[in-house]
Amino acid sequence: MSTRILFSTIRRCHWLNKGFAAVPVRYYGDIPKIYRPYGKTGDGNYGSTLGKQNVGYIEQVRETILSLAKTIPFTDKDSVFNIADYGAADGSTAMAIFGELLATLKDHHGPSTQFQVIYEDLEMNDFNSLFKRMSGIIPDPPSYLLEMDNVYVLASGTNFYKQCVPSNSIHFMMSMASVHWLSKTPIFKDSIYKDAKSSTEETTALNKLAELDWETFLLRRSRELKRGGLLVVGTCAEFEDRNTGENRYTLYSLVGLLNEVWKEYSESGKISKGEFVNTNISTCCRTMKEMRKPFHDKTSPVSRSGLTLLSAEAVVNPDVFYNDWREKKDKEGIDDREEFARLYVSAHRNWSNTTFMNGLSDSRSLEEKEQIVDGLYDDVKKRISRMNPEIFKDDVKLIYLVIRKE
Ligand SMILES: C[S@@+](CC[C@H](N)C(=O)[O-])C[C@H]1O[C@@H](n2cnc3c(N)ncnc32)[C@H](O)[C@@H]1O
Repeated sequence: MSTRILFSTIRRCHWLNKGFAAVPVRYYGDIPKIYRPYGKTGDGNYGSTLGKQNVGYIEQVRETILSLAKTIPFTDKDSVFNIADYGAADGSTAMAIFGELLATLKDHHGPSTQFQVIYEDLEMNDFNSLFKRMSGIIPDPPSYLLEMDNVYVLASGTNFYKQCVPSNSIHFMMSMASVHWLSKTPIFKDSIYKDAKSSTEETTALNKLAELDWETFLLRRSRELKRGGLLVVGTCAEFEDRNTGENRYTLYSLVGLLNEVWKEYSESGKISKGEFVNTNISTCCRTMKEMRKPFHDKTSPVSRSGLTLLSAEAVVNPDVFYNDWREKKDKEGIDDREEFARLYVSAHRNWSNTTFMNGLSDSRSLEEKEQIVDGLYDDVKKRISRMNPEIFKDDVKLIYLVIRKE
């Protein structure tokens, strides 16, 4: 090789290297502090823990989904019928209903109709488990894809407060147990979530953020929906307790207990006061009035975008971990409170772990953070195992809305 060619090759490689090195890379620590599911990626952890509870939430709207889906206009049989799930996690909880929905629609529109199913969730979601479930590598629940032709599955790793798919493209969309997650983390100084001692300013700030986020979510989905398309939402609720008249919300007992132990950690110096203040759950359990508000006024941005509310209902779902404990006690005479505590904590650690990891100071190593948070869940588990599940169990109330784009 001549000297000139050699130099030019070296220069080019050097340029390429420089170009490559100059690309900004965001490392683990810089990733925004958002919802991050707990458990090893690709292990199907969501479906085998929290999914056991959440899969039942669909039951309340199953019939409605299957009957209304047939009313969604789909005249151009050469095009594609699009279905989307927002906040899909690993796809386990929507597997059965989407299988039934596809079967119903195939029956209605003909077996050669083509379908696209888009699973949407945050960029840190365990999409690897989702695809392992779709292909049957994780076999339970059985994947509808293994039995159906003309169904194509895609994923969108986009925040649902943004537009996630092209305008005017989706026929049916669903979002279960996800829209209570907010776009930002609220701040409550004395607790990890709103409680009786929260200041008016703190509560007002949470409510304002939740109101804005709900409107944003609806407006984004409205752009994506086709005319005549449907949006079904199920979300955690705030409500008045039937017995005491107190203000309660979904998973009230668990959040109260997590708060109690975390507060003790800050008082004993295990975590700093600043870390306690920094630990806040980025969710809002809304009231029925708040969920319905964007639809009331016919001149509101949501109404003007073409969305109308077909139905709104609040339903108490069974707590499956409590039910299992109760059944074992009644049928076998075994009062296994430790097992109840173990299953309950491993399920709810899935969504809550990220809150405590995010609250801890970045001056701590990852190992140190994990050790503290492991300790928290161990302590919570021990306390639950010493409680009577009859008293600890939560009202798992959800609000369901069925919305149509006119
Ligand atoms: C409790 S899981 C619900 C999963 C599933 N829909 C179900 O019903 O079992 C909540 C999901 O919402 C997702 N999520 C939270 N905030 C989100 C956002 N801004 N954009 C998209 N997904 C979000 C989380 O990543 C998580 O997978």
